[in-house]
Amino acid sequence: MAPPRLTIVDAALSLPIRHDHTLLQHCLAAELAVSRSCRNGNCGRCDSSLLKGRVKLRNGNTVEAPATIPLCIAFALDEVEISNLPLIKLPIFWRCQWQNSRVLVLPAGRQTPPHEGDICAVLFEGSVELNEIAEVNGRNIVLLKPAANTPEVNSVSLITIDAEHEGQYTLWREYKSQRQVVWQGINHVTARSAQTAYQANTCKGSYHIIHDASTKKP
Ligand code: FES
Repeated sequence: MAPPRLTIVDAALSLPIRHDHTLLQHCLAAELAVSRSCRNGNCGRCDSSLLKGRVKLRNGNTVEAPATIPLCIAFALDEVEISNLPLIKLPIFWRCQWQNSRVLVLPAGRQTPPHEGDICAVLFEGSVELNEIAEVNGRNIVLLKPAANTPEVNSVSLITIDAEHEGQYTLWREYKSQRQVVWQGINHVTARSAQTAYQANTCKGSYHIIHDASTKKP
């Protein structure tokens, strides 16, 4: 018998269900950038519509369609159809002023800041450092650990990323006929987000994404 499937109406996707994976994990594995934060059913950021089927929540409750469910703690019990996923509009990045190795300052203006606890990547010219947002205080973004690098200019880009950001893509930088690996072993969503942030911020050189299985280098 064919395994039950998860249908994601918004993305016109049908995926085989893994009963040991939450619906959020299914979406992320399909590279759908679903908004989330707590991953324990409390913040509501991943809430979506259950159109068909039944799910079991991590607290043991069974929920039947139609309902609104937190994808992060929902396991499919049978064929399931979901919609109204809170998809993040990618790419999201912030060009920040460099105050010191732990404090970046958002530009003035109405810009939604990242959230405390978000995993982030600080994008230097030609290299990337992973970090976490420890605190958001007005326009100040406080990083959990001091950055090891210092930017060439007085600003850096920041992107928020998934805990599951690993994958089979590499971001390359090409500058003055030199090619260098900027970030390796990431998924496509993360690579796109970083590439867009670099290119939007008039960094020197051009940035290319390749699949690691590809022998074709940029
Ligand atoms: S990530 Fe917070 S409720 Fe799902």
